Amino acid sequence: MDLPCTLEKRDGEYFLGGCKLEELSREYGTPLLVMDEETIRDKARFYLDNLEKNYPQSNVYYASKAFLNMGICRIMEEEGMGLDVVSGGELYTALSAGFPPERIIMHGNNKSRRDIIQAIRANIRAIVVDNEDELDRISRIGKAMGCRVPVMLRVVPALEAVTHPHLQTGMGSKFGFKIHQGQAKKALKKLSEEETMKPVGLHCHLGSQITDGEIYLRAAEEVMQLAAGFRELWQDEFALNLGGGFAVAHSDQEESFSFERFLPGISEKIKELSFEWDLPLPTLEFEPGRSIMAPAGITLYSLGAPKKVENLGKLIPVDGGMSDNIRPALYEADYNAFVVNKNYDGRSREKVTITGRLCESGDILIRDIMLPRTEAGDLLAVTCTGAYTYPMASNYNGLPRPAVVLVGKGKASILIRGETFEDLLQRQEIPAHLQKEEDQYLAL
Ligand code: LLP
Repeated sequence: MDLPCTLEKRDGEYFLGGCKLEELSREYGTPLLVMDEETIRDKARFYLDNLEKNYPQSNVYYASKAFLNMGICRIMEEEGMGLDVVSGGELYTALSAGFPPERIIMHGNNKSRRDIIQAIRANIRAIVVDNEDELDRISRIGKAMGCRVPVMLRVVPALEAVTHPHLQTGMGSKFGFKIHQGQAKKALKKLSEEETMKPVGLHCHLGSQITDGEIYLRAAEEVMQLAAGFRELWQDEFALNLGGGFAVAHSDQEESFSFERFLPGISEKIKELSFEWDLPLPTLEFEPGRSIMAPAGITLYSLGAPKKVENLGKLIPVDGGMSDNIRPALYEADYNAFVVNKNYDGRSREKVTITGRLCESGDILIRDIMLPRTEAGDLLAVTCTGAYTYPMASNYNGLPRPAVVLVGKGKASILIRGETFEDLLQRQEIPAHLQKEEDQYLAL
């Protein structure tokens, strides 16, 4: 199971980044997402260091969709990471934090005209083109703006990763130019005839929560063979981006991806393939998201009173749920948790199910977990919640989104302020004809 590197228990009290979890919950309220700075930095450095050892001609882009805000952009910049953004909004966040645009690439299967113009104006490293229509659009926009737009093509090998169906992005998905259908070749041909775009390389992303390294090797083979048919395109630059997708273990039932074991093999394979296909040695690129952020995060919840239900067993509600972590409901994701506020060492445990507080029967956070007997008001910590929780959070049932704090060296700082009830109303207006009479008089 993946846990933050600074999580420790001292004299029966739990600490993360040197901060006492119970104190954090009192100061910031619950639910609360606590992110450990050292774990984030360690994980980012882990990718950079391993590549430096095995394949120095490389780049790592943090897949910012996993968890993005201006503070995280600063950490990624300081660590020497690149950033993968997927929309104008993510690009805006990164640029607002002063992230260097030459280290940003932009994805998206239906980028708007505005996204494209914003990316070109910002001078980002490359736009990763998803489809033919987008290729034409970028070409037209590039021409109108008088610039040569750096692009990569997102190509899709004839493979399907073993993972949850929602997390597969292989040949059966909505993404990219399918190699086996001839779409990728057609797009490369078009690119070779275009003056308005500068080819930078090829990209593929096979999916998320992948444990098996073998599929990346097979993908590299297909993509390099495709690249070899268009050698003339790679005179200046040739990047091979194999995406992200490295699995983390949210619980004991899951297995994580071993990047250290995987990297020497793929590095060798790419060297062999470039020799075999007479291609320049590519810049090897990866885009990990979850494996950097998930282990760094812990969500704190206050427990409610237990309820026994026939066929479901003992249910214990928390004061959040699918509004701050939709992953169990959406992907049947597994999590682990522990009780923070009491020293339960040596006490017997019972099987319980942790439910959310949202009005949905499917709002169940953790099924059948062994916990000591708890009572209302106890504090629960759910681990490995740093990725794809906050970015997918909602205000469903009128719940304000929780605060996110960054902890390290015994200090906690706000990354994202928790929403208030006033925040919920901030963008709402009552149309004039629906206003109460007394308000209408006031407006006169
Ligand atoms: N690159 C591209 C082009 C991607 O689409 C993604 C994730 C990544 C990299 C990073 O993959 P990671 O290393 O994080 O697995 N909401 C889902 C995950 C969706 C992943 C979308 N793309 C979840 O909560 O599991």
